[in-house]
Amino acid sequence: MTSTEHGRRKYDELADKYEEIFPYVADVGQLLVDYARPAAGARVLDVGAGRGAVARAALAIGCRVTAVDASAGMVERLARDYPAIDARQMDAGRLDFPDGSFDLVTAGFVVQVLPDPDVALAEFRRVLAPGGTLALSLEKQTVGRLRWLFELAAEFFGAPVPSDDEEESGAMTGKQLNALVKAAGFTDLVTDSVEMPVPMADAAALWDWLTPRGLTDAVHRLPADRAEQFHARFLAGAEHMRANGGISLDFRATLHAARTP
Ligand SMILES: C[S@@+](CC[C@H](N)C(=O)[O-])C[C@H]1O[C@@H](n2cnc3c(N)ncnc32)[C@H](O)[C@@H]1O
Repeated sequence: MTSTEHGRRKYDELADKYEEIFPYVADVGQLLVDYARPAAGARVLDVGAGRGAVARAALAIGCRVTAVDASAGMVERLARDYPAIDARQMDAGRLDFPDGSFDLVTAGFVVQVLPDPDVALAEFRRVLAPGGTLALSLEKQTVGRLRWLFELAAEFFGAPVPSDDEEESGAMTGKQLNALVKAAGFTDLVTDSVEMPVPMADAAALWDWLTPRGLTDAVHRLPADRAEQFHARFLAGAEHMRANGGISLDFRATLHAARTP
């Protein structure tokens, strides 16, 4: 199984509960569209659309929206929930559209999960019309109140504990994304930051939140007794958080917008 197939399967499994586990994607989707400011009637392509957090915000202001995602489960759900969106299963690195087809290409929390983000960015540029807009969001990895969990992962899997300096940690930093956007030939790059608290009901909700982040896969690969130990220590850590002000994460993201020359 390739990592792409693995990723597709992971998102297929998540499709029906994705926005329940990650409720803030709806807010960030709206903010990303506000940031890009497409005109009513603009041709918008939302790549890695998931359940439509970005696509539906563009639809709501009268854009003509096409949404693509590699996961059949996500596309099926999106097509059912928003029949006015042209939803298709497609890989971000091989967009099946002619050059210059769109006025705005959006990708909310997507570029950092792609194996070849440079290939996808070249495709985004190709399908944008001259003077078109690219708008991306990126999650900022925060250690903060989850330091205990990173330390637990370091103990069980040898993973390094990320730096408290958010710019230096995470799957992709804002600086790395900006460098990729510039290298793909985009101009007029601007960025902004958003921050919102993410309250979690209980330890099970925190566990679900971690599912797409590779940690639960790593736990499943452990021998059964070690996996049990990990889970028990995880529950104890989450309980400690709950007793000390509640399980709440400070979610941070950056917005990035640029133009095609
Ligand atoms: C973190 S989710 C973001 C979903 C949505 N944009 C949002 O803001 O809620 C990433 C999405 O990218 C999709 N994805 C992952 N790899 C992809 C690829 N190579 N091509 C297209 N979509 C991909 C996943 O299926 C998933 O729906």
